[in-house]
Amino acid sequence: AIDISRLRGETGLITLDEGFVNTGSTRSAITFLDGEKGVLRYRGYPIEQLAAKSDFVETAYLLIYGELPNAEQANLFRSGIRDHTMIHEDMRSFYNGFPRDAHPMAILSSVVGALSTFYQDSMDLNDEKQVEVSIYRLIAKLPTIAAYSYKKSMGQPFIYPNNDLSYCENFLHMMFATPARDYMIDPDFAEALNLLLIVHADHEQNCSTSTVRMVGSSNANLFASISAGIGALWGPLHGGANEACVNMLERIANDGGNVEKYVAMAKDKENGFRLMGFGHRVYKNFDPRATIIRSSCEKLLNKLNLDDPLFEVAQKLEEVALRDEYFIERKLYPNVDFYSGVIYRALGIPVAMFTVLFAIGRLPGWIAHWREMHANPGTRINRPRQIYTGSTERDFLALEDRS
Ligand code: ACO
Repeated sequence: AIDISRLRGETGLITLDEGFVNTGSTRSAITFLDGEKGVLRYRGYPIEQLAAKSDFVETAYLLIYGELPNAEQANLFRSGIRDHTMIHEDMRSFYNGFPRDAHPMAILSSVVGALSTFYQDSMDLNDEKQVEVSIYRLIAKLPTIAAYSYKKSMGQPFIYPNNDLSYCENFLHMMFATPARDYMIDPDFAEALNLLLIVHADHEQNCSTSTVRMVGSSNANLFASISAGIGALWGPLHGGANEACVNMLERIANDGGNVEKYVAMAKDKENGFRLMGFGHRVYKNFDPRATIIRSSCEKLLNKLNLDDPLFEVAQKLEEVALRDEYFIERKLYPNVDFYSGVIYRALGIPVAMFTVLFAIGRLPGWIAHWREMHANPGTRINRPRQIYTGSTERDFLALEDRS
């Protein structure tokens, strides 16, 4: 194979690959993915093992620094994050300016972008210490920023972080406690959330991660790059699919649970309807994350003795679609977003917050890629080419001469 990184654009040769289906944008040592076999590994560790044995903060460390932390490193990392969970008091006033019904993803990307107004030292990318602190700040503050966006939508007072709690417990506390009433954290809830965050933590060059790398390649600071990634994640073809998927399952349940009708609709290209939470650019067998989430979902609902009609609709939909020639031929399987929403519902998390949870989970992956890119001395600004299809040269027309 030709090493195209050596062709410095002077050949006049351009590869057109719309949607970057077969274009590698970088070398990376973070995540391995085999779409044919349904394999996903972070830094060599199978996702199934991490989901069963690790916790989200440890997985974040693994993704960002390349190795599982020893006891001392783990303690330092955890306490470093705990030190930064509060947001600046002046930042709270931002929330007064947002409309009450603002989407929490819009709030999340705005407030994360604004972190660089409060921590201006973060803009010096040569200051390794500052970059390191920015990493801690982001991981620590994202759940706080997210929970405040929910409190804003409810018209409730913000709840400060409680650093005696674990990462996931703390998020649930900030979401559901009120000054009038403590929130008793169910360990099953914290465990389910922990698992969801781990399986979302990285997925190599997906749309939002590529966005973070793209923005970061101009030497934009970490906060600006992550804020852009949050915007990319919001779309329903990417992270926004978890919200769209639950809305779809609700629609089917309210329509008598007739899944066959919706499978037929998804095959009809005229109406633009797709089965949300189905299909993936890379997985052409099964999405290992969906398998993990499905079983966690079943476990949680059984434990809580909850009978969620949406879980039944989802299972039936999966069964019918997987028997259908259209889905078989195109290798369309449930993806990570198919069952995650049912778990979030069981935890009491509102639909508008689903993609926010995805962002909290994906954050370590974004940071790891941004860091890997800057550590690579060969990195150049990402700047794709195009095939121009517009007009040939023409002379300017005065206004009175235009038809
Ligand atoms: N329902 C019905 N048909 C589908 C679906 C679906 N969910 N997904 C793909 N197809 C069909 C397409 O219409 C196309 O059919 P054709 O060959 O007859 O034209 C074929 O399968 C290939 O689909 P593409 O859109 O070309 O595949 P691509 O790799 O570009 O897109 C994507 C992948 C965006 C995930 C797509 O499958 C989709 O839209 N799924 C629904 C949204 C979703 O769940 N997104 C979350 C993805 S996972 C994540 O980001 C966390």
